[in-house]
Amino acid sequence: MDLIIKNGTVVTPSGMYKADVGVQDGKIVEIAASIPAEAKEVVDAAGKLVLPGAIDGHTHLAMPFGGTISSDDYFAGTRAAACGGTTTVFDFAMQDFGESMVDTIKRRDAMCAPDAAVDYGFHVAVKDVSGGLLDTMAEAVAYGVPTFKVFMVYDFGVDDGVFYQVLEKAKSCNALIEVHAENRDIIAARTKEFLAEGKTDAWYHYLSRPEFVEAEADMRAIQWAKSLDAPLYIVHLANKQGVEAVTKAQQEGYEIYAETCPQYLEFTSEVYKRPDGRNFICSPPMKGEESRQALWNAINTGVISTLATDHCPFQSYEKDWGKDDFTKVPNGCAGIENMYPYMLAAANAGKITFEKAVELCAANPARIFGCKDKGAVEVGKDADLVIYDPELDFTITNDKMHSDCDHTIWEGVSLHGYPIATYSRGRLVYRDGEFVGERGWGRFVKRSRI
Ligand code: URP
Ligand code: ZN
Ligand code: ZN
Ligand code: ZN
Repeated sequence: MDLIIKNGTVVTPSGMYKADVGVQDGKIVEIAASIPAEAKEVVDAAGKLVLPGAIDGHTHLAMPFGGTISSDDYFAGTRAAACGGTTTVFDFAMQDFGESMVDTIKRRDAMCAPDAAVDYGFHVAVKDVSGGLLDTMAEAVAYGVPTFKVFMVYDFGVDDGVFYQVLEKAKSCNALIEVHAENRDIIAARTKEFLAEGKTDAWYHYLSRPEFVEAEADMRAIQWAKSLDAPLYIVHLANKQGVEAVTKAQQEGYEIYAETCPQYLEFTSEVYKRPDGRNFICSPPMKGEESRQALWNAINTGVISTLATDHCPFQSYEKDWGKDDFTKVPNGCAGIENMYPYMLAAANAGKITFEKAVELCAANPARIFGCKDKGAVEVGKDADLVIYDPELDFTITNDKMHSDCDHTIWEGVSLHGYPIATYSRGRLVYRDGEFVGERGWGRFVKRSRI
């Protein structure tokens, strides 16, 4: 064998057990109480957990947005992912007007393939379905991209008619539609009022799009998906009423999924009152404590299916463009390196179980996004593995992060327990705080939802 990880505790969504894990040619080939075979590399994981690499289903690397480009390219972003135990990222490929969806994927893949340090895929962010482009969704599904996203906000967001059309099309071609749900018109009206009143600091970013602005859009999106009986995945869910709407739709038997992000579990809208509040500006914004608690509760009840980061960092000088006008702050924060350590530390502290952390960060994204080779420590799966030391204390500081961004909203957050090694298809890519992987190692992951 190429690698045997011995004496560790393997974590699955349904339990934890002591085992050796054997790897050959990038795949997990044996899991047993003891593997006596020889291997090129034998790692002792006694006292450690052996986990599937996380899948981050929501990143924006090198994304043109907010008058600039998000500050992690495909190398920096995937390097940081590897160092936080994330071995697969799904990035948003933004369709150009007039462009077929497969061309969108190929255009981004040409950028990503030479740079990616871990495996990757794309969701197509749909802008244009005119002139036959709607039919190119099925071609993208056949190409291995069965997931599409619509934005109900931003200048590139779609109108209700396009949202309706893609939901209907997705149903017929075994695709899944993801949605960024907020009410664009209410945001515009409230923003105009605040700016006219000279209310321009980061706090008014939150007040321009508070709880009900997101909740209303969640409910509308769910209503359309229900009407068409089409599956729907709500990205970065951050409000309590939205959680209630998802809960009800799931209880009624509809295929509605919700994702949330660590920043909504850790922070509340109070961060926008801080002097560095603009660094926390993302959309949807962090909400009040009631919503934060509702999200944790929805994790434990299973209403929230996945965690993802929405990693979309901007440098301090770019965030500073909006120090006197919140509308000029590029929206987004860094987090690609923090998701798995944060959720595992929550498990270590007893807030959730380790099984739940693995379900949310690996098993469920693999299942929902149709990623059959990943997301579990199981024979036959890719050897995307993380060794986790539950006793290692780690305080997040930007100098320890592997992103190109010059700051992090996670600065000073302390975690009990931290990943000490990450393997991507059996290759060591992270060890003891250092990236040891390789630019271009990552491969495009072809997916299917059937
Ligand atoms: O503020 C955010 N979330 N920026 C990235 C784009 C998006 O809305 O997901
Ligand atoms: Zn979004
Ligand atoms: Zn996003
Ligand atoms: Zn401890």
